[in-house]
Amino acid sequence: MPSRIRCRRSRLVIIVSLVSLLAGMPASAQTPQGQIRNSVNPNRVIYTETDGARIYMDRCALCHQPDGKGKTDGTNGFPPLTGMSEWMSLREGQLYVAHAIIYGPYWGDVLVGDQYYFGMMPRFGPRFNDQQMVAVIRYVAEVLNPPAPGYRPITVEMIQEARRLPDNMEAVREERALLPLR
Ligand code: HEC
Repeated sequence: MPSRIRCRRSRLVIIVSLVSLLAGMPASAQTPQGQIRNSVNPNRVIYTETDGARIYMDRCALCHQPDGKGKTDGTNGFPPLTGMSEWMSLREGQLYVAHAIIYGPYWGDVLVGDQYYFGMMPRFGPRFNDQQMVAVIRYVAEVLNPPAPGYRPITVEMIQEARRLPDNMEAVREERALLPLR
């Protein structure tokens, strides 16, 4: 085969493969509104909210209620996120709360005061970055609960520590069982 033809043909192959590669790619990493697309599913956008109050209202209030008082029909329901001042003044308490949010589905019977709640909480670990975790936990610790003396806000380092805790429900339950009753 004359070398010129071979050369043309390989140029054609390169062009065809480039075009098919481009055709298979999402149009853009951003939506027309400037939201960042999820790299796995481009039909979804990455949640970029950074304000703790807004994150709470967007992602938690549906179950735990806007005032954090939870909801129950006597059996099923969502535990309150109020009555947590003591947990939030303890390092182990903050780590447990972070782990409970990171881990999921988190479900079963949970006792708060004299009330059992049976429901399910989704897995938030992959949905929030460390800063978003800090922001929403600070909202729970500082707005939904009156901070106890000695309270210190949770840090990004503690979120990272909680992300390294065992990824199973027994571990989460055990951490809770070691905390004072609430
Ligand atoms: C779909 C409903 C739902 C959503 C949304 C939800 N939760 Fe929960 N959450 C629950 C349920 C149900 C439990 C109890 C799980 C269990 O222990 O069996 C729970 C437990 C918790 C606990 C542990 C409480 C305890 O007494 O041990 C914390 C802390 C918590 N949620 C915080 C949050 C935060 C913060 C958000 C938002 C980022 C959130 N939850 C979103 C349903 C939900």
